[in-house]
Amino acid sequence: MNKRNSILRTSYAVRISHWLMVICFFLVAMSGLSWFFPSLNWLNGVLGGPQLARILHPFLGVAIFLFLAYMFLRLVKYNLPEAGDGKWFANVGQVMSGKHVDELDTGKYNPGQKLLFWGIMGLISLLLISGVVIWRPYFAPLFSIPLIRIGLFVHAASAVLLMLLIIGHIYLAFWVKGSVDSMATGYVSRKWARVHHPRWYRQATGEAEKKGQS
Ligand code: HEM
Repeated sequence: MNKRNSILRTSYAVRISHWLMVICFFLVAMSGLSWFFPSLNWLNGVLGGPQLARILHPFLGVAIFLFLAYMFLRLVKYNLPEAGDGKWFANVGQVMSGKHVDELDTGKYNPGQKLLFWGIMGLISLLLISGVVIWRPYFAPLFSIPLIRIGLFVHAASAVLLMLLIIGHIYLAFWVKGSVDSMATGYVSRKWARVHHPRWYRQATGEAEKKGQS
C-alpha cells in the first residue's frame, strides 16, 4: 500500500503480540478441544501428543494471557464505552448491510469491536483463574475438590464462549474488506479509515484540530 494514501493504525508491538497470541491460541484451543470428545483426541498432536499437550497447554495459556494483557494496556483507552455507543447498536443493521450512517461518527474501534474486546478480556481472565485452580500438579492440590469441579466447569464454558467469539472476530475481520491490513502491515488506507472510523481518521490526521481552528 502506498504510504502516502495510508495511515498507521496498529503499532508493530501490538501486531507482534496479536499474532504470537493467535499462534498460541490455536495450539491451546485445539489441544483443549482434544479433551472434550474422544473423537477429537487426535487434535493433541498439534502439541506433540497427549502427554506433551497436557504439560504445554497451561503454559501456553499463560502466554496468551500475557500477550492479551499487553494488548489490553495498549488498547483499553480506545475501547472505553462512550455516550454515542447506544446509537451505533440501534443502527447495527444498517452498519452490517454496509450503509454508513454519518452521525454515528465512529472512533478508533466501533462499539461492536469494543464489546468483543471486553468479551475476550473477561473470558481470558476467567480462563486464567479457573486454569490455575485446576492446574495439576502445581496449584490444584491447594484447592478443595468442589472448587476444582467449579473450576473445570468455568474453564470449559469460558473456552467454548471464547472460541465462538473468535470465530465471529475472524469472520468480521475478513468480511470488512481492508481490516486485516490493520493487523498485517499496521497501515490502513485513508479511504477505509474515513468510511469505517471517521472520528479516529480526523484525530489521526490532525483534521479535528484544523476543523477546530477554522
Ligand atoms: C486468524 C485469526 C485472527 C485474525 C485474522 C484477526 C484479525 C484482527 C484484526 C484485523 C484486528 C484489527 C481490527 C481493526 O484494526 O479494526 C484484530 C484486533 C484484535 N484481535 Fe484479532 N484476529 C485473529 C485472532 C484473534 C484471537 C485468537 C484473539 C484473542 C484470543 C484476537 C484478539 C484481538 C484483539 C483483542 C484485538 C483488538 C480489538 C480492539 O481493540 O477492539 N484476535 N484482529
